[in-house]
Amino acid sequence: MNWLSPSILAADFNRLGEQIQCVRDCGAQALHFDVMDGLFVPSISFGMPVLASIRKETDMFLDVHLMIREPSRYIAEFVKSGADLITVHYEACTDVMQTVGLIRDAGVKAGLSIRPDTPVSVLRPFLTKVDLILIMSVNPGFGGQTFMEGTYDKLRELRNMYSEVFGKAYGDELPRVEVDGGIYLSNVADVLGAGADTIVAGSAVFHGDIAANTKAFLEILAG
Ligand code: DX5
Ligand code: ZN
Repeated sequence: MNWLSPSILAADFNRLGEQIQCVRDCGAQALHFDVMDGLFVPSISFGMPVLASIRKETDMFLDVHLMIREPSRYIAEFVKSGADLITVHYEACTDVMQTVGLIRDAGVKAGLSIRPDTPVSVLRPFLTKVDLILIMSVNPGFGGQTFMEGTYDKLRELRNMYSEVFGKAYGDELPRVEVDGGIYLSNVADVLGAGADTIVAGSAVFHGDIAANTKAFLEILAG
């Protein structure tokens, strides 16, 4: 089943609770939470206290994207703050296997992400150790960027790798394939067609009519 995971980085933080309620009531399956440390990426966003306050108010699946150096240092904190899934970056970990193991040992789902300039091939050793693969379609650090077209080939390559490793390219029991950055109503069908099943959208959801945007995405995802 395809999921929409709206990124709150694009939300209005003066009205965050109401905007989260809106995407939830419209049927978004998850909420994407972009954590940036100003080191791994050239921007700083928010962290555990914001996640904990959101957790208190919503039952949504909290999809936490750690764009931070050496994320193993903070897994316990983000689990305690309410994450349901924690995605770390391959490029940010000294020991990727140890880090994704830490996440699963803490009882939450583990995700592994690669930047646009990192080849899909690096993911092979981890496919059976994670619940989600995140293919970045922009250089991480900011919302509102333009989708990088090379993402389509990376998605197809990842699905071929699934066939080699799991014996099939698709299946509910396989790790989700999430894409994040520059996704709009105009290109989301192509992103799904290339192999994604989990869509992160920030600007395209939270800018303008949030309810209408969410429903329009969900209609395409249900198609
Ligand atoms: C970028 C973040 C993305 C971003 C998506 O580093 O990981 O989740 O917020 O924002 P849009 O959908 O506006 O490109
Ligand atoms: Zn993200």
